[in-house]
Order: sequence, then C-alpha cells, then structure tokens
Amino acid sequence: MSQVAPMSETDTTADTKRSSGREPDPAVERRSAGRVAGKVAVVFGAGCAGPGWGNGRAIAVRLAQEGAQVIAVDRDAASLPETLARAGDSAVRIETQLCDVEDAAQIAALVQATLARYGRIDILVNNVGGPAAGGAADLSEEAWQRQLSLNLTSVFTTCRHILPIMARQGSGAVVNVSSTSAIRWTGAPAVGYAASKAGVMQYGRVVGVEYAKHGVRINTVLPGQLHTPLVDAFLAKQQGSNVEALLEKRRKRIPLPVSGDGRDTANAVLFLASDEARFITGTELIVDGGMSARCD
Ligand SMILES: NC(=O)c1ccc[n+]([C@@H]2O[C@H](COP(=O)([O-])OP(=O)(O)OC[C@H]3O[C@@H](n4cnc5c(N)ncnc54)[C@H](O)[C@@H]3O)[C@@H](O)[C@H]2O)c1
Repeated sequence: MSQVAPMSETDTTADTKRSSGREPDPAVERRSAGRVAGKVAVVFGAGCAGPGWGNGRAIAVRLAQEGAQVIAVDRDAASLPETLARAGDSAVRIETQLCDVEDAAQIAALVQATLARYGRIDILVNNVGGPAAGGAADLSEEAWQRQLSLNLTSVFTTCRHILPIMARQGSGAVVNVSSTSAIRWTGAPAVGYAASKAGVMQYGRVVGVEYAKHGVRINTVLPGQLHTPLVDAFLAKQQGSNVEALLEKRRKRIPLPVSGDGRDTANAVLFLASDEARFITGTELIVDGGMSARCD
C-alpha cells in the first residue's frame, strides 16, 4: 500500500466538454452540505478505466465533498491521481491506497491500517467489478470463476473484514455497486456478469437483515447504461469502431433525455451511505434513467 501524489488539474475536465449531457452540471455535482461529515469511508475501486467520471472515482469525490474522510482504494496506482484532482479542495479528505480486492490478506492489512489511523469505519463502498462477454455455453469456466471472484467474492471478503467493526461500533453503512444486468437482459449475453451482480444484490438483502440489529445498513445501487470510460473500453473491445453509433442507439432508448455517468451513481451511493437513509436497508436503488421500467 502506498500513497499516490495528486496530479495537476489541467486535464481533469476533458470529458466534461463533450456534448450529450456530460458537460458540468450543477444538478449532479459540487453541492456540499456536509451530508456525511466526520464519517470515515472506504471506497474500493476508486480509480477509473480511463480519464473521466467512472463510478468509483465519482463516489470517492462525492463523499469527500460532503465531508467524509475517504480512503480511496484501487489496485491501479496510475488511476488514482485523477480522482484526487477531480476532488479539488476536497482532496484534502482523500487518502489513496493500493489494494487488490481479490486478495484477502491485502484487504485485512488495509482495514487494520485504516483502523489504526482513524479508529473507525463508517462507510464501505464496494465498486470494483466489470463484465466479461459470454453466454451460457461459450463463457469459459475460467472466465466464469473470474467473474464470480471479481464481482461477488470481493464483496464477501471486504464485508467479512469490515462488518464486525461496524457491528462493534453499533453503526455503519455498506453500499455495493451491482448493475441492471442483475435484473434484466441488457443487450448481449454476459452470464457471469449477470449472475455475479445478482448475487451482490441478494447478498445485500440477507446481510441487511442479519446486521440490522447492530445498527448496520447494507444496500445495493444498480447503475444502468451509463456513459463511463469503462463502457467506452468494453464497447470498443466488443464492437470495434462502432462505439459512437452504439452509444447513440442506447441513448435513444433510455427514457430520460440525459446521458448518465458516474456522478449519478455517486449521488445514489451518497444518499444510501448517509444518515438520511437511516430506515433503509436490504434493498436496491436503480440508477438507469428509467430504462429497466421499459417493456417495449
Ligand atoms: N460504467 C457503467 O456503465 C456501469 C453500469 C453498471 C454497473 N457498473 C458497475 O460499476 C462498477 C465500476 O464502475 P466504474 O465506472 O468505477 O469502473 P472502472 O473500471 O472505471 O473503475 C473500477 C476501478 O476498479 C479497479 N479495480 C479493478 N479490479 C480491481 C481489484 N481486483 N482490486 C482493486 N481495484 C480493482 C480498477 O483499477 C478501476 O480503477 C462495477 O462494479 C461495474 O460492474 C458500471
């Protein structure tokens, strides 16, 4: 684990200049009312697949803007400086750490170091994950196991280390990032992704009930078809040069005339992580512009 130095602010707004709803939008960013002030938040997957507002990056920034002390964790050191840069003044409340969520020993060390430094953990966000294309007969066994490990076992392992700490405190909020692929066909077969993300959802329901008596809440956010650097990379691999056309086709089908990105996921996570959601546990919040409500 090591600290990563902030990068310069010069290249942080590149994607916000694009059209299609990705321009700076006061409705989704930069409000600060101290909604999680004083809380210690660990965000796994706080970097991003490329420049721009990925989910984990936006979540780390948003929690810090609202007053939390954020431990922004990723396995990719190169992706963390942009997270700090996008936080602006709030970067003083972000500490970056390196850790692989598929390695239980690294998670244990990170949790112990966090406790030693801050004495508590109030918020846990599990954002690490990603899709592998492949249907029931053509996804390899190895790829299936990798999907379960990356998307589902990682959640089990971080929670296994952090839930007992929250239970001892008598308070805590876990927010796991799943996907609308957990509940719908989303355009192509990715059975390992769909099944592992559905597992994250049901895990949250069961553990939500199990830990309610300790004052610990656990909820799941299901982002839909966002436009994030991860999506650009996945579509480019799958579709080659047709990415823009495909994105446009997706946009047209989403009921709300907005192009969602990581900041929309972050605002949902912020709400569920905050005390505003004190009576909400074991459930899901869908962030998809109304897409999963369609049936035509
Ligand atoms: N982007 C979308 O449109 C979309 C839609 C639905 C769901 N999701 C879900 O959102 C989450 C991620 O979104 P994002 O935009 O932040 O993705 P991202 O890929 O841009 O960022 C995820 C970060 O996780 C890190 N990471 C990957 N494996 C790791 C590991 N083993 N240990 C530690 N860090 C690791 C990566 O380095 C990266 O910085 C995933 O769970 C994904 O399934 C995304």
